[in-house]
Amino acid sequence: MALNITFRQLKVFESAARHLSYTRAAEELHLSQPAVSMQIKQLEDVVGLALFEQIGKKMYLTAAGREVYTYSKSIGHMLDEAEAVLDELKGLQSGRLSISVATTASHFATRLTAAFSQHHEDVTISLDITNLASLREQLEANRPDLVIMGQPPEGIEVKADAFMENPLVMIAPASHPLGSAKNIPLADIENELFVVREPGSGTRGATERFFEQHNIEFQTGIEMTSNEAIKQAVEAGLGLGIVSIHTLELELETRRLQILDVVDFPIQRYWYIIQCKGKRLSPAAQAFRSFVLEQAKEFIRLP
Ligand code: PGA
Repeated sequence: MALNITFRQLKVFESAARHLSYTRAAEELHLSQPAVSMQIKQLEDVVGLALFEQIGKKMYLTAAGREVYTYSKSIGHMLDEAEAVLDELKGLQSGRLSISVATTASHFATRLTAAFSQHHEDVTISLDITNLASLREQLEANRPDLVIMGQPPEGIEVKADAFMENPLVMIAPASHPLGSAKNIPLADIENELFVVREPGSGTRGATERFFEQHNIEFQTGIEMTSNEAIKQAVEAGLGLGIVSIHTLELELETRRLQILDVVDFPIQRYWYIIQCKGKRLSPAAQAFRSFVLEQAKEFIRLP
């Protein structure tokens, strides 16, 4: 037997049962008192039992009324929950998402963003690819929703979560004589010239710190703002390079470049997803953040 109860009847009944008064239910729901009695009468007809009883001046729930009250509360909670979830989804399915990433992170962040946007077609995403100094400025101004970079910026209050390793490797042209050597001591590369990223890039900063800590001179030649340009320059024999392994794909397979086996290499770094501390992320931004934390590794093509 299907009970032909409506949500409206349950809502009116729940209020009347909670207050044990038709008048107060009518006030709460902005209805007239006869409208409340009518809804409850209809509910009693459907149930086939009285739900309230009046003893003297006081209203009581009958045994059936107490059962219906328990269910009407649970159904009410579930409806509220459904409404909240649907509202969240509305926010998630539309809206704008502004993400800024370090130059090096663009090698996987574009694939990552494309995959996210396939599942969230109505979210308009803007992806800014820029260097560390500019990411810092953006975070200071609380502009992007989320930032992907190689280190949390110092002196700015942020929430930063590491989600993946970011090894920096030393690359050489395929014909370089050290190519077949194992465990090359750092001292053996002291005389090598390096094609380097611009000052202000995370890769450059980490590389300089590494050589300083190991007390080895770091000879820099041409400076370039793109990892692609560095790889081409190294291939052309302009020097060695130090880049994130995530920038290397076909170059190793096609033997245009090789990774040198140098002691204490790779330089170990991490990728972080960062937001300004206290920032309230939109549902779309929250979804992107979880997507990065859970799935970024799948978008890396390691050589
Ligand atoms: P970048 O990469 O060198 O492109 O700035 C970020 C980082 O490694 O910190």
